[in-house]
Amino acid sequence: MKNKINALLHEVKTFSAENLEQLEAFRIQFLGKKGTIPALFAEFKTVPPEERREMGQLINTLKQAIQNKIVTLKNQLDEKSTAQSSNFDLSLPAGSPLGTRHPLSIVRNEIIDIFSRIGFSVSEGPEIEDDFHNFTALNFPEEHPARDMQDTFFIEKDPDLALRTHTSSVQVRVMEKSQPPIRTISPGRVFRNEAISARAHCIFHQVEGLYVDEDVSFTDLKQTLFYFARELFGEHTKIRFRPSYFPFTEPSAEMDISCNICGGKGCNICKYTGWVEILGCGMVDPNVLEACHIDNKKYTGFAFGMGIERITMLKYQVNDLRLFFENDLRFLKQFQSSR
Ligand code: PHE
Repeated sequence: MKNKINALLHEVKTFSAENLEQLEAFRIQFLGKKGTIPALFAEFKTVPPEERREMGQLINTLKQAIQNKIVTLKNQLDEKSTAQSSNFDLSLPAGSPLGTRHPLSIVRNEIIDIFSRIGFSVSEGPEIEDDFHNFTALNFPEEHPARDMQDTFFIEKDPDLALRTHTSSVQVRVMEKSQPPIRTISPGRVFRNEAISARAHCIFHQVEGLYVDEDVSFTDLKQTLFYFARELFGEHTKIRFRPSYFPFTEPSAEMDISCNICGGKGCNICKYTGWVEILGCGMVDPNVLEACHIDNKKYTGFAFGMGIERITMLKYQVNDLRLFFENDLRFLKQFQSSR
């Protein structure tokens, strides 16, 4: 009898049930009226008195093991069925779908990467700026009409303050604090009082760049911006410069790239010219260096500035600048980035 009970104990321990029906069959097999346990108790009556104690304990241990097994298996099967009935797929990876970066951030990061590779640092500055950093140090004389070019938002309470109209103001701050060699770019948000349309907004984003050192020439400017254009728009990109005017650079130029849509053959994006304008640039005016306490006999420099919206529109063929500010998920979801 002892051997029989031990064999049964082993059977109980190794039993497992796929479903509630199998578990119920197990219960009936052992605990049912005609089951194993009642049968053992019946047999117990024939056990000689000296073995009774030991056999009684063994049968009770077996009964306890059966009851424990039933409770454990029942709990497991219950858990499994709630998971199934509530449509949870526990094998799916955890977490909700990842968001994507805003297209303007993707392009800004790409521009920063490109200039970092040739030694430019990143500098930032305040969005509310004083007249000196936004205009005067940049060679905009008082009352000069060039100030109107920028459609400034002034702060009513203090006419010396305005929302910066470009991030050239950040470069003034860098030059005030450091001496050449200076190689830095300043990404940031800028503000101009322009009517909102598909091509203009009163808030937009810029990346401006500055390089000041001994013997910096227009050739350096051209080569740097040529490298930049090819990195961003592809190795077949061509560039050309057109004379222009900015108070803080002399000579000044605007740079075009060969149209990245039609490759220069002519399309409606480039208005059939084969070229699209992407940035303004020039050699830093000696007056600007002087205003920032940099020796303009010893040092020269170049500067450039571009609108991130415009570059993004060209790169991704977005035809309405307002899309960048609406945060419509159907638009934003189309952009993916690795960083
Ligand atoms: N600051 C100019 C702008 O806001 C861009 C620019 C920067 C042009 C540097 C020339 C040199 O449009």
